[in-house]
Amino acid sequence: MSIQVKTKDSVYEVYLGENVLESFCERQADVLSAYDQLVLITDEHVWSLHEEYVRTNFKLPYKLYIVPNGEDCKTFESYYQVQTFLLEENFSRNSALLALGGGAVGDLAGFVAATFMRGIPFYQIPTTILAHDSAVGGKTAINHPNGKNMIGAFYQPMEVLYDFHFLKTLPEAEVRSGLAEVIKHAIISDANWMDEFLALPNLDAIDNNELLRWIEKGIRVKAHIVELDEKEQSYRKFLNFGHTYGHAVEASVGYGKITHGEAVMIGMIPALMLSELHGNVAAGYSKDVYDLANRLGYNFKHVLPCKFEDLSKFMLKDKKTMNGELHFALLQEIGEPFVQTILMEEVKKCDEQLRQWVREGNE
Ligand SMILES: NC(=O)c1ccc[n+]([C@@H]2O[C@H](COP(=O)([O-])OP(=O)(O)OC[C@H]3O[C@@H](n4cnc5c(N)ncnc54)[C@H](O)[C@@H]3O)[C@@H](O)[C@H]2O)c1
Ligand SMILES: [Zn+2]
Repeated sequence: MSIQVKTKDSVYEVYLGENVLESFCERQADVLSAYDQLVLITDEHVWSLHEEYVRTNFKLPYKLYIVPNGEDCKTFESYYQVQTFLLEENFSRNSALLALGGGAVGDLAGFVAATFMRGIPFYQIPTTILAHDSAVGGKTAINHPNGKNMIGAFYQPMEVLYDFHFLKTLPEAEVRSGLAEVIKHAIISDANWMDEFLALPNLDAIDNNELLRWIEKGIRVKAHIVELDEKEQSYRKFLNFGHTYGHAVEASVGYGKITHGEAVMIGMIPALMLSELHGNVAAGYSKDVYDLANRLGYNFKHVLPCKFEDLSKFMLKDKKTMNGELHFALLQEIGEPFVQTILMEEVKKCDEQLRQWVREGNE
């Protein structure tokens, strides 16, 4: 099965399901063999788990470059080392890059592809649930010590090959992380779909086929929004639902100490509280989602050691903040996002409410 993504300058498919990697080689045999060289970029952990599967199912010759796991690969150093490797190995404009891994590898490798010789073709092979989001839409970036994802490019892949085989080895924390973005896709697009989540008693109650169906729906939501607004001038801002406060928590707790998705789940609660105030979202909906998130095992205690003062500084530094004004993606109704200017005072009230719920839960 595949889902098409259309942007101004490119159209590409996201293939998803079982055996996607194997069929890729057959389907694209001519295109792939026309490249003078291929490089597969992956991280240590993914390679240790899936080397055999990749070697069995991707039979064309390629050179391998292994980067550190997680955010450690999204550094200038790592970026520089990959470029050096490509130059030393005589990669050219006619070469192509394959990014095998989660969002971190995809972001790094995508940015390498965007800039090596002014851009070479690349293929995303996502291996996390979270990457159903990050591998689609063409945002690529590395981190600067002054801020996450600050150096990057919009650069679309040739194809996205989402082979569900990889998801089998995901630890629970990474399942939760990715699921948060799936829930975000539900909440900004479809109230009935969101009801399916609200009915969940816990994480174990999620059936694997159901999860795969949700991932597919999530990709459709993302693909649709990217089609409307590739460069984040308007609609694409809706995808930041939960991210203004969530990114601040992620930065304040420390990258790597909390997953991106867990921070986003935390951030969706203040965004829902604000949607009750500025939109028509029913009073109490934010508490319902908070309770759901707790049943699924998201840990809200992360917010307690974060000072609001620090969170507010991070929110003001956000790429989406303009002239000191906070632009929050909110919901008019569940499934109907809009962007609203919000005062820091209002965020502070939501933050206090959230902390109170967390403390009450601890008693
Ligand atoms: N470009 C975008 O649009 C976009 C959107 C959202 C997030 N992101 C970025 O994505 C990153 C987060 O993505 P992520 O959570 O996938 O991160 P990740 O790539 O760091 O993966 C998380 C961890 O899971 C491991 N892992 C990966 N696949 C696995 C598998 N199949 N089995 C077991 N372990 C596996 C990795 O080695 C890593 O330790 C962040 O850097 C974030 O900024 C980008
Ligand atoms: Zn995100």
